[in-house]
Amino acid sequence: MIIPIHFQPKSSMDYEITIDELPCLRFDKRVAIITNPTIAALHLETLLSKLEVRELHIVEIPDGEAYKNMESVEFILDKLFGFKLDRKSMLIAFGGGVIGDITGFSASLYQRGIDFIQIPTTLLSQVDASVGGKTGVNNKYGKNLIGSFYQPKAVYIDPKFLDTLPLREFVAGIAEMIKVAVTFDAEYFKYLQSVDLHDKEMLKEAIAKAVTIKADVVAKDEKESGIRAVLNYGHTFAHVIENETNYSTYLHGEAVAIGIVMANALACKLGLLDEHEAKQIKSLLKHYGLPTEYSINDVESFYEHFFLDKKSANNAITFVLPQGIGDFKLKADIDSDVIKEVLQDFGEEKSE
Ligand code: NAD
Ligand code: GLY
Repeated sequence: MIIPIHFQPKSSMDYEITIDELPCLRFDKRVAIITNPTIAALHLETLLSKLEVRELHIVEIPDGEAYKNMESVEFILDKLFGFKLDRKSMLIAFGGGVIGDITGFSASLYQRGIDFIQIPTTLLSQVDASVGGKTGVNNKYGKNLIGSFYQPKAVYIDPKFLDTLPLREFVAGIAEMIKVAVTFDAEYFKYLQSVDLHDKEMLKEAIAKAVTIKADVVAKDEKESGIRAVLNYGHTFAHVIENETNYSTYLHGEAVAIGIVMANALACKLGLLDEHEAKQIKSLLKHYGLPTEYSINDVESFYEHFFLDKKSANNAITFVLPQGIGDFKLKADIDSDVIKEVLQDFGEEKSE
């Protein structure tokens, strides 16, 4: 199955996302695969058996979000210069979202930009991170604060790689699928309610649908000046939760699941979502084993954290809220007392 991204207005950045067994890939150029030891041990052999290139190099960086930083980028760039890659050379991001984001960013910097392709190996990176060209790294001020919009030349999604993914990582990716279903596509939401994502065929179809939705959004708004912000549904809350828990308690997708529940509570308060719909969404998250509860200790501090998010502009936060299931509303003018009342409901005594 091939899903094209056709940018609007028309541009030369268009590319295809292939969802299938990894095909044989031939490139008459110098290529460097960027990966980590975990993925290399499990899947590099498979990739190498499918690759025919003029000259091949492999760069491994340590596994983990902690290594998504400028030091890793410097390390990769140094290696590329050592290999004497030229401006026609290409990088292959082979791994999860961390590898994808670092590789894309390194590609955007090397000699002012060389091509790269994405071969994502986690569910989260297959349905979200590998598509759309957001690349970057973290620094001491926060996550993804350094980066660029830099589109890959192609994305190859092979669900077979997920066979070795730990269950918790797999489930975290499902949160991003539920995210796009709730905000963009009621039919897809129903589909997710009815299928078993542990079934390979159903999973492949569900990945394809999530990617189609994301590709459509990115094509309309590459640089997030409008509709792409909807992909941040649940994230405004999730970023505070991740920060409060030192990025060590929850995987990103898990924090997004809790963030979705919080955003829904706000949407209910504003009359955009009814309680039954909110319950349906929460049940689906719980059905897949995602967390949906969180105790806010200090509402004022939680609220203040919203303003540290890079997506808050001019000290105003735009909340992405569901409008029923399958539609969204961007709300920038919500009274702070209303937001705090909702947060209060997640306060220690009141949380379930
Ligand atoms: P990750 O890249 O850290 O991968 C999670 C873990 O799974 C790692 O230990 C990894 O080595 C391991 N792994 C990867 N593939 C495997 C496989 N097939 N079998 C066994 N283990 C495997 O985490 P992630 O959830 O893929 O990505 C999270 C990152 O993605 C964050 O840094 C986040 O900021 C970024 N992100 C980017 C975008 C974007 O649009 N660019 C969107 C969402 C998230
Ligand atoms: N993950 C959100 C985006 O790509 O915009």
